[in-house]
Amino acid sequence: MTITADVETLVRVCAVSDLEVERGSAALFGSTQIALFRLADGTLHAVSNRDPYTGAQVMSRGIVGTRDDAPTIASPLHKQVFDLRTGLCLDTKGAEPASLRVWAVVERDGDVLLDLTQELTQVVAEAA
Ligand code: FES
Repeated sequence: MTITADVETLVRVCAVSDLEVERGSAALFGSTQIALFRLADGTLHAVSNRDPYTGAQVMSRGIVGTRDDAPTIASPLHKQVFDLRTGLCLDTKGAEPASLRVWAVVERDGDVLLDLTQELTQVVAEAA
């Protein structure tokens, strides 16, 4: 996925080196918790820390993995699996479809920059 981030709306979150590879970190923006991931291939992903199935802010504690070509995060609670690029749930474990919010995140000069104005979420409906 190509992200054309607008310089005007980027906010620095941390240094890339602050993010442990293949482990999530949570960042707070206003009342929104964002789970950040730096994968072994160097890609960065920013998704909602909120597990849409439970409402708990736990996605940064989830398990990173892959499904076919998709980099994924599995909820630490009921193990639903989400595509980190789109937020789509790839394995609902029998529950209704729900998705994570996804934001544009880029690396520049060793910094992690987030564009909160660019939501890349494909399906925004969340389970109640
Ligand atoms: S994610 Fe909260 S106890 Fe494990």
